[in-house]
Amino acid sequence: MCGFFAPFLLWYYCRMKKLIIGNWKMYPVELKEARERFTQIKKTASVLRNVQTVICPPLVYAGDLKKMVAGHRVTLGAQNAWLEQEGAYTGEVSPSQIRSVGLTHVIIGHSERRVLGETDEMINKKILAGIKAGLVVVLCVGERERDKDGEYLRYVASQIKLALKNVQKKELSNMVIAYEPIWAIGKNALRAASSEDALEIAILIKKTLADMYNRDGSHVPILYGGSVNEKNTKDFLTASRIDGLLVGRASLDPFVFGEILRGAEKVK
Ligand code: 13P
Repeated sequence: MCGFFAPFLLWYYCRMKKLIIGNWKMYPVELKEARERFTQIKKTASVLRNVQTVICPPLVYAGDLKKMVAGHRVTLGAQNAWLEQEGAYTGEVSPSQIRSVGLTHVIIGHSERRVLGETDEMINKKILAGIKAGLVVVLCVGERERDKDGEYLRYVASQIKLALKNVQKKELSNMVIAYEPIWAIGKNALRAASSEDALEIAILIKKTLADMYNRDGSHVPILYGGSVNEKNTKDFLTASRIDGLLVGRASLDPFVFGEILRGAEKVK
């Protein structure tokens, strides 16, 4: 009996965990600094039972930081990957290569990459390649601005549909969707989204997934990202009914990020 329920219990336990991802972008400038920050974050994160922490450092530091990882409460991810597993693509890194050095996640379709020319079609190919390599793919979606007519809702829904083309139901267990409104990201952000803003999009994402996959889409974790800090963490994780956070600037400060992680730990 117990054996029969074991996979379900494991799934349920993992589902209950909050997923907190730190996107370090192109910081810090030196490996030594990256090691120091990661050491402190790991210390906090490795004792938290209800939080899965993933740090996405500049890829060049990943091999080094990987040696410091023990256990599975803290893992490493990549901020991007190419859409083929190998080939003559100077300067690119493939999902299989990322997986082969022990990284677990990859962020795809971040607005800071879309602005460099990444199209919905490329994002779709990158997602398919990431899943094939065995990575958990964190798809970023989000509007540049909000309009009164609700055009932004159609825009976000269409980003999801285009990104998930040909992604099969059974592959959804490798997918996470992060809502990152562009107007809320970075030091020039207008503000963080409100928990109501995030809830509205969480519902939209669930509905879009239901249209595409019926009930199978309902298990895809939804994250919020954009000016997350230690003060708004609890609000997002409770009022917005989302499953985790994608944190930029605040993930580079081990004290502030530690507070975010501890805040997430307390949310039931
Ligand atoms: P900030 O948290 O710095 O606003 O960045 C959000 C982000 O882009 C995470 O991917």
